[in-house]
Amino acid sequence: MTKASDVFKLKNANNVEVTFIGRGGQITGITVPDKDGKLADVVIGYQSVEEALAGDGYFGALCGRFSNRIVKGQFSLEGIDYQLECNNGPNHLHGGSEGFNSRVWDVTPYEESRFTQAYKLSLVSPDGDQGYPGELKVEVVYGLTDENELVIEYAAETSKATIINLTSHAYFNLKGAGNGTIEDQVLELNASKFTPLSAEIGTVTGEITEVKGTAMDFVDAKTIGEACNADDDQVKIVDGIDHNFVIDGYDGMLRLAARLSDEESGRCMEVFTNQPGIQIYTGSHFDGTETGKLGKPIVKWGGVAMETQIFPDSPNKEHFPNAVLKPGEVYKHTCVYKFSIQ
Ligand code: GAL
Repeated sequence: MTKASDVFKLKNANNVEVTFIGRGGQITGITVPDKDGKLADVVIGYQSVEEALAGDGYFGALCGRFSNRIVKGQFSLEGIDYQLECNNGPNHLHGGSEGFNSRVWDVTPYEESRFTQAYKLSLVSPDGDQGYPGELKVEVVYGLTDENELVIEYAAETSKATIINLTSHAYFNLKGAGNGTIEDQVLELNASKFTPLSAEIGTVTGEITEVKGTAMDFVDAKTIGEACNADDDQVKIVDGIDHNFVIDGYDGMLRLAARLSDEESGRCMEVFTNQPGIQIYTGSHFDGTETGKLGKPIVKWGGVAMETQIFPDSPNKEHFPNAVLKPGEVYKHTCVYKFSIQ
């Protein structure tokens, strides 16, 4: 039986190392070389497992059953109204206060030729868990390749019609965690549209808007700081970026969603997914009061989460992608974080 504090490591031929723990499958470290071969840990977090277990439970964690927000925690399915916990102001966030990030996953070694090393993480979520219908059986593979890809593959099956939207919540800083903010790191998104927010609703309005001419335009690469410091209503609502972007050309197949790079270190990370959206969150709520890696404070804009997903509040928006899973169907989600030098 896996314990919350158990530590697992994946390592490849290029000294890339991924570390995670049993609780939440939380990725507590991803060490990658820079242009001179110097290694740094590029995910923000704490200095010890004890601190990780006591601290922000979303750092690097697997989130579910429904990542991101559901307005007022309500949805209807097959004629039944469901009320979920409102653990984020008026809304439901990341599956509730006892979401998948707070569970101890069962971790076992996993072998497949495409991976240098891999683990399988499994969880059975009982019918009614956090208010969601159906028993949900979830399997997630963390696989590391010698091409410096961390592959995250999710699969889930349910005993009753339910909703699902799993994601991974690591915050990246390609200079290395603890080395300031991500303001001068360059982001390019394969997204010409995004889903705007309303401060009153506390999440998406349901509109799908062109990014052109707004701070959310990352179709041509630009620094994250340019957007976070822009005089823009959407930026002001969340003091940075905390938005779902609509991936262009979505057809359920794996495609490039995002590219993050840091000129100073030469590190680059591409995100591939078969999902329709990606949440870009610049960690605006970090206030420097917590101590993170290198003994440095965890600061506002100190890392950027890139969460592949179905759009927020999809269960209540008919024109958003489907988040319903029925018995006999298999939910399949792939997210690849590929590291390189530019
Ligand atoms: C993100 C979300 C943020 C914040 C964070 C958890 O996915 O977009 O608004 O809630 O999770 O701290």
